[in-house]
Amino acid sequence: MRSDGDCWGITESVGATALGVAAARAAETRRPEGLVRDPYAEDFVLAAGPGARMPVVRAFDDETGMSSTYIGVRSRFFDQFCAASAGGVTQTVILAAGLDTRALRLLWPTGSTVFEVDQAAVLAFKDRVLAGRHGDGARRVLVSVDLREDWPEALLAAGFEPSHPSAWLVEGLLPYLPASAEADLFDRIDALASTGSRIAVEQVDAGLLVERSEELSALLGIDLAELMYLDRRPDPADRLRRRGWSVSCTAATDFAKAHQRDLDTAQFGGIATFVEATKPTALGMTG
Ligand SMILES: C[S@@+](CC[C@H](N)C(=O)[O-])C[C@H]1O[C@@H](n2cnc3c(N)ncnc32)[C@H](O)[C@@H]1O
Repeated sequence: MRSDGDCWGITESVGATALGVAAARAAETRRPEGLVRDPYAEDFVLAAGPGARMPVVRAFDDETGMSSTYIGVRSRFFDQFCAASAGGVTQTVILAAGLDTRALRLLWPTGSTVFEVDQAAVLAFKDRVLAGRHGDGARRVLVSVDLREDWPEALLAAGFEPSHPSAWLVEGLLPYLPASAEADLFDRIDALASTGSRIAVEQVDAGLLVERSEELSALLGIDLAELMYLDRRPDPADRLRRRGWSVSCTAATDFAKAHQRDLDTAQFGGIATFVEATKPTALGMTG
């Protein structure tokens, strides 16, 4: 059950979902046709020790491969977004970074900074496992703050420069935020993003998720409804359009097909959409 201001370690509550996603990336990394290569993912699962035997991790590293396939597909979309953004921006903000290792595993233009925002215990676990390893080109800056709090202040204090274009990743986050925190999130991103900034968002249909949460929960062995806020809210794509961003959307199942992978439409059809958007310049041209 969630509550205002709740916090978690890597094997508990919402923290365990970061570990589950890492387990899925480890599984997808092992597949010859895998859409993500994350050499650090397995280290996280092993380092979590006995806690890693929890159902959420097993389910993502599942025998049917469906959950880890979805995470592979999602990872590839966000990886491509980072590559496409790299020419124009040198600061990337990963909101709810969890055990995301893009700062280490992707190639970044020299002088890039990747801000990883998440709760303190999640980032502390991650840093302990990574033990000072560095990537190519990007400086990692950890921002330990709750995304229901005044996170822009923490981001600015960590060196984020709002007058320069930025790239934003919102992956695996929104259902874990109350509706008001999600509304604030987009207001704050819009306020911090200069023209030419870009964003990628995993948009989840809360209605469908409610319908299928029983099936998903059985698959995961946990009650997702206990971790997620399933109240309906405006689509992120609409929020961005209303703020003047130029938006494009791709159904996760279509993105999977385009990458020669099949996502079971009975399970995933209509649930997830990958949203990409650019904040236009003052002349209305996308940068
Ligand atoms: C499903 S994981 C996704 C992690 C990462 N984006 C990925 O795709 O690998 C969800 C993450 O959201 C973070 N999270 C959820 N609510 C949060 C909040 N209110 N403040 C900070 N982090 C939050 C959790 O700690 C966890 O790391």
